[in-house]
Amino acid sequence: MNYTEGMLREGSLKGKNILITGGGTGLGRAMGEYFLELGANLVITSRKLEVLELTAKEMMAKSGGKVVPLVCDVREIAQVEAMWAQCIAAFGQIHGVLNNAAGNFISPTERLSSNAFNTVLDIVLKGTSQVTLTAGKHWIAEKQLGVFLNIVTTYAWTGSGYVVPSAAAKAGVLALTRSLAVEWAKYGIRSNAIAPGPFPTEGAWSRLLPGDLVKKFDPAKKVPVGRVGVHQELANLAAYLISDFSAYVNGDVITIDGGEWLKGAGEFNNLEMIPQEMWDMMEASRGKKP
Ligand code: HXC
Ligand code: NAP
Repeated sequence: MNYTEGMLREGSLKGKNILITGGGTGLGRAMGEYFLELGANLVITSRKLEVLELTAKEMMAKSGGKVVPLVCDVREIAQVEAMWAQCIAAFGQIHGVLNNAAGNFISPTERLSSNAFNTVLDIVLKGTSQVTLTAGKHWIAEKQLGVFLNIVTTYAWTGSGYVVPSAAAKAGVLALTRSLAVEWAKYGIRSNAIAPGPFPTEGAWSRLLPGDLVKKFDPAKKVPVGRVGVHQELANLAAYLISDFSAYVNGDVITIDGGEWLKGAGEFNNLEMIPQEMWDMMEASRGKKP
């Protein structure tokens, strides 16, 4: 057994209907595929119907569950409400929402237009808030239990240059997660977040490491465990957090980054660049034999 394999037992999500924003590509798709394997039905939503339809077809060919593709730009509340109504029409009830849709790109902040900044804020923070508000109001009115799982990043709490709109928006999503975990627990609604480190996807890599940057800034080199993430290990964590097995986990953010952000944070962590011979010399110079 290892991290490239599914972790939960068969049928762990049986009877659950789960909405995944940005579920047609990348990590949203990977998490969705595993939810399906565990017995869930899915709604996958984003702006591109063709992509969603193809993904839904491929997903259903692999597993027995139902996958409903729905177009929705999460920035538009009318589209979010219409999409939610279609979810209810399709399944009667949605048990979990995975807020995964995002927009991002690298740029020195002073080069950004106001529209560029707002575009990322709107997809990530406004989009997540609108989906959350729509689902939460419905669950509360219908006295249904529900679970939110929000995908943030480790720079939601450290901040990061060159992706400032994303950092500000993800920090907002983290605050939303923690706030509602308390406020809506009385309705039986849990909220948690996952903060992934680097997990290769076409969407992220093309925008964050365009062209030769991927060779110059190999993300694996920044990770203490020496590699980037594998989609299945993220899917394992997400399936646990969206399932009833995590019923007592509420308001938390779980980091899955091989120790990457802590490596950047620890004052002396870059001393790993010092070769063993230099440590030997330093030891010798204080009178101790290597
Ligand atoms: C500067 C840019 C830009 C760039 C777009 N803009 N790309 N500015 N650098 N690279 C500006 C445009 O000029 C425009 O401003 C404004 O942003 C809106 O651009 P549009 O192309 O009209 O927006 P839209 O079609 O809505 O597309 C949104 C997008 C795009 C965010 C720009 O990249 C997208 O669709 N992304 C979705 C998927 C995605 O980003 N996935 C990666 C998530 S990875 P003006 O002023 O000219 O009108 C992630 C990982 C985090 O979040 C952590 C990793 C470790
Ligand atoms: P991705 O494949 O580009 O996923 C982003 C998804 O969001 C796409 O399916 C996109 O679909 C959808 N989307 C974008 N704008 C939208 C909008 N306005 N309305 C609805 N959907 C929209 O990239 P990814 O790497 O899988 O990212 C998934 C999540 O993981 C994001 O929250 C990201 O911030 C997070 N994350 C990724 C990494 C990583 O290393 N990959 C690390 C940390 C966090 P359409 O274009 O069809 O709309």
